[in-house]
Formats: sequence, C-alpha cells, structure tokens
Amino acid sequence: MRVFRFGEIDSTNSFLKRENKLENYDLAMAKNQTEGRGRRGNSWVSKEGAALFSFVLKENSKLPMEEYRKLPLVVGVAVLRALKKFQSLDYKFKWTNDIYVNEKKISGILVEKINENFIIGIGINVNNEDFGDLKNSATSLKIESNKEFNIEELILTVVEEFKNCFEEFLNGGWELILKEINEKNYLLDKPVTIKIIDKITRGIGGKVLDDGTLEVDVEGIKKSFDIGEVHISF
Ligand code: BTN
Repeated sequence: MRVFRFGEIDSTNSFLKRENKLENYDLAMAKNQTEGRGRRGNSWVSKEGAALFSFVLKENSKLPMEEYRKLPLVVGVAVLRALKKFQSLDYKFKWTNDIYVNEKKISGILVEKINENFIIGIGINVNNEDFGDLKNSATSLKIESNKEFNIEELILTVVEEFKNCFEEFLNGGWELILKEINEKNYLLDKPVTIKIIDKITRGIGGKVLDDGTLEVDVEGIKKSFDIGEVHISF
C-alpha cells in the first residue's frame, strides 16, 4: 500500500486510474481537486477542508463478480463506522452511495472499475463550511458539531474500517452489514422517484434487500431497483 498526497490534483480517482502498477489499498488524497467527479457525470465540489481521497481494491478471486454490486454499500458502512468514531451524529445512508445528516449530504462515494481494480473514491465534508449554492443540501462535520477534525486521521480510519468491513463481507458477514445499512436507511418511507434512462417511476422507499437492491412500493406493489437515479420527491 502506497500513500500519495497532493495539495491539488484534478481528481484522486482519475489519478489512480492513470497509475500503472496499482497495489491493493494504494491511497491518494488531496487538499483540493480541480475536477472532482461524482456519480453519473456530476461534478463534486472540492474545497479545502474536505477529505478527498481514493483507494484501490483489487478484485478478489474468492468473491463472485455479482457480489461486487454490494461494494458501495460495504464502503458506506465503513464510512458510517469511521464517522461515528469521530463525531456522534444521526448519520443516514442514502442507498446506494451517500451519507446524510439532518437531511443534508455530508459524504459521497464513487466506485469505479479499471481492469481488475476497483477505485473507491470518497468525499467527506469535514472542516469546510462554505457550500455556496449547495448550502441547503450539503453539510459538514464542522457545521454539525462546531469542531474541527484531523482530516488525514479520518481518511486513514475510513480505510481501516473498510479493510475490516471487506474482510467481514468476504467471511460471510453481509447480513450484519445489511442490518447496519437498514438501520440507517435514509430512503425508508420517503417518497422517491427513480429514473432509469427516460422512464420515471414514483413510489415509497423501502428496505435494502439481501441482494443489495432497494425495495420500492409502487402503487401497492413492491418492486426492487438496482440501477438508476433515485431522488426524494416532494
Ligand atoms: C457523489 O456524490 O456522486 C460521489 C462523490 C465522490 C467524490 C470523491 S472526492 C475524492 C474522489 N475523487 C473524485 O473525483 N471523486 C471522489
């Protein structure tokens, strides 16, 4: 495992994707990103004071490929556990990749695959407080607790928690991980719209199921979704 530290870079995910010989748990962190990326081609506003980092997970031959669809959820639990160690707040996990506090996003996860490597990118708003146009939808540890935190310590804790969680997952611990996800399920009982290509489905968010999909009640019929964009509808 190597650690790459940057003052500024385009994106820590892009950096690792460009590297040649990646090792398991190679870690890149940056104080600032000029082209921070989120899911579905969105950008991730990367301001100093946030934890901006990515690490490598090599495909493990012990794990069937379809099990990797649960990877963002395993990462989510690792982030939840690490955050809890730093500051006790009412964190919620928004299936499939976000963490919320008080109805505002505090962390986002972007999992990408390149060859036999998964690049796990995580942004956590830590000591940053200025969200500009996003101020109604984003928050940080500092805003919620009035305290400042050591960003590198938090990053290393997330990676350690992930290592433990992934070991747990490999050794049959999915049930416990899923339980944690469902205890913190942000979408439960919320009106949601799911957009898959051009098709929009409206319903009420339910639990995350054993296969990692989200159950949604659509006009009294329970359906499960594993792709697409899920939004809270008002
Ligand atoms: C999302 O909310 O859509 C995911 C956001 C992921 C942002 C992190 S910041 C570190 C890493 N580098 C990137 O370019 N993106 C991820």
